[in-house]
Amino acid sequence: MAFLMQGFVALSTLLIVAAASLFGVSHASDTPSVFSKDSLTYYVQVEVGAPSLGTLLQPINASISGSFGQAVVFAFNATKSQSRTSKSLGLLRGYTVETNYISGGATRLLEVEFLDYDDGQYKGTLQYQGVVTPESTELAVVGGSGSFRGIRGYVVVTFVSSNNPFSTFLHKVTLLK
Ligand SMILES: *[C@@H]1O[C@H](CO)[C@@H](O)[C@H](O)[C@H]1NC(C)=O
Ligand SMILES: *[C@@H]1O[C@H](CO)[C@@H](O)[C@H](O)[C@H]1NC(C)=O
Repeated sequence: MAFLMQGFVALSTLLIVAAASLFGVSHASDTPSVFSKDSLTYYVQVEVGAPSLGTLLQPINASISGSFGQAVVFAFNATKSQSRTSKSLGLLRGYTVETNYISGGATRLLEVEFLDYDDGQYKGTLQYQGVVTPESTELAVVGGSGSFRGIRGYVVVTFVSSNNPFSTFLHKVTLLK
């Protein structure tokens, strides 16, 4: 009887250890690596006239308030280098809304977007929000998911090159500790 009991305890212990290590393995592979670098750069590929870039809402009243209220929705590709055919790093999706209320005034867009990032090591989203003007585009990094949980910082967007209908932009992300 004592022998059977001992055997049962040994077997249960074995099963618990086996289950724990199984959970341990699956838990580790489900958790993306934490992105702890202080910067990230990638290129954004735009195709003017493609269905991935379109007017979502028309201006409220162009004769008195210019383009105010016009919204554009977009879905762009993010790549590792300037070439459109370089390694894919994910997708950039979002929208802009014209906020300038003056007819003929300079563009001042609210931009809200996310980068769905996957380079094979880091995987997750970066959430962006900010203002686009003709002079500059700097958006706040307001958070993230996956490898980027809890991050804060900013992204500076600069125009790199254009070969109609394609344009390429550089996104330089700085993360704050
Ligand atoms: C974005 O990627 C899709 C799918 O690979 C491709 O069809 C499209 O041409 C790409 N767009 C640009 C602007 O490179
Ligand atoms: C824009 O506003 C003007 C002046 O109030 C008005 O006459 C016109 O009908 C409006 N246009 C639209 C498209 O609402």
